[in-house]
Amino acid sequence: MSDDSDRDELVVAARRAADNAYAHYSGLRVGAALAFADGTVVTGTNVENASYGLSLCAETAAVAKAMDDGHRGGLERVAVFADTAEPVTPCGRCRQVLHELAALGGTDPLVWCANGSDAFAIRLSELLPHAFGPQTLG
Ligand code: THU
Repeated sequence: MSDDSDRDELVVAARRAADNAYAHYSGLRVGAALAFADGTVVTGTNVENASYGLSLCAETAAVAKAMDDGHRGGLERVAVFADTAEPVTPCGRCRQVLHELAALGGTDPLVWCANGSDAFAIRLSELLPHAFGPQTLG
């Protein structure tokens, strides 16, 4: 399978996940999809809360699902989708949350940032250089 079809498949999974968003307050429906070395894809969506600050981002929800499924590393690719003017990039907290899971397996996942018409890919290490993580604590 080519890199492009990998991307398309993962971006489609993220877009589909966004359909389940609980974006009651912001109206911004975000989806995330995580692709693992074993072929598994785990998706997540944003889950907002009346206490706004408690809202969960799509990427964080996906990481929680993946870890609940037993994943500890093996994170190879990520896609995040929202119907925004520019392709959406993971927020700072989500970069940190993704880094924890990736670092457990020593990978530097390619992160596809997408909207309805465009997508670009960037390494997690470029989104979060000099990251604090489990390797920092030893
Ligand atoms: N959001 C995500 O799900 N992921 C991000 O990386 C950025 C922001 C969500 C949080 C909130 O529900 C909505 O987008 C508006 O900020």
